[in-house]
Amino acid sequence: MKYQKELVVFKKEKLNPACFLLELKSEEPLCEILPGQFVNILVKGVAERLLRRPISIHDVDYKTNIISLVVQKAGLATEKLSLINEGDKLDVVFPLGNSFPTEENHPLLIGGGVGTAPLYYLAKTYYNKGIKPTVLIGARTEDQLFLIDKYKTVADVYFSTEDGSIGEKGLVTTNSIMNGSFSAILTCGPTPMMKSVADVAAKKQIPCFVSLENRMACGIGACLCCVTDTKSEGNVCVCTNGAVFDSKELCNM
Ligand SMILES: Cc1cc2nc3c(=O)[nH]c(=O)nc-3n(C[C@H](O)[C@H](O)[C@H](O)COP(=O)(O)OP(=O)(O)OC[C@H]3O[C@@H](n4cnc5c(N)ncnc54)[C@H](O)[C@@H]3O)c2cc1C
Ligand code: FES
Repeated sequence: MKYQKELVVFKKEKLNPACFLLELKSEEPLCEILPGQFVNILVKGVAERLLRRPISIHDVDYKTNIISLVVQKAGLATEKLSLINEGDKLDVVFPLGNSFPTEENHPLLIGGGVGTAPLYYLAKTYYNKGIKPTVLIGARTEDQLFLIDKYKTVADVYFSTEDGSIGEKGLVTTNSIMNGSFSAILTCGPTPMMKSVADVAAKKQIPCFVSLENRMACGIGACLCCVTDTKSEGNVCVCTNGAVFDSKELCNM
């Protein structure tokens, strides 16, 4: 079931020069939301105002009916969104997309840049089931990271930065934690990073699930602007068949 609702901006907080946190509060109880799902936001006042913008769900609090998002300023709509004020209302369609697997017994979660955002709710879901996951976060520099202490409450957290300002210097794929034994890798971030991570998973002969961030518009399988080529089903919509896919299923991975 998908909902289109006006959610109130309960809190807005700058996290680093590019990213900000948005807490969106629903007046009614939230429906079940799965880790890896996303919202599609109507950002009023931008030229292409009919195109909603997809943003991953970073966290869900069913007690307060709050959905949290981490947004990185990329262009017109996200810049406009960064100017929104607490108390304002946003037109949001949610929850969209499928889910990351939540039944792994020893998962490694790998996030790159703002792609780390959905991994908090995923890690929390595992933690609440009694499995403390390992989270590896990649960024260019330490000052691009966000909400690290929050991730540490539900996961064992490791870092790779390009300048070595925190964690190991280099890419996530060269981080020594990759030598560990895991049941699967679940990843979200830039496509080149996810391709390299999928290669490592293939060598380790473990499954790898990637969350694609193809350009989207409707978010509900109607406009076909988000398709990706899969081995068993041909072209499928990322917004409805994904955004999470088994990397082995994707032709371009
Ligand atoms: C399923 C999904 C989940 C996402 N989750 C998040 C999230 O949690 N936080 C977040 O900050 N962003 C997320 N994104 C990306 C976000 O939707 C885009 O950054 C946003 O739509 C850009 O809109 P804009 O008008 O600000 O920029 P535009 O002016 O539309 O684009 C600015 C620049 O960003 C690039 N861009 C636009 N959309 C994407 C995209 N989907 N992937 C890669 N590059 C893009 C454009 O090529 C251009 O270079 C997600 C995207 C998808 C599909
Ligand atoms: S965004 Fe319209 S079909 Fe996927």
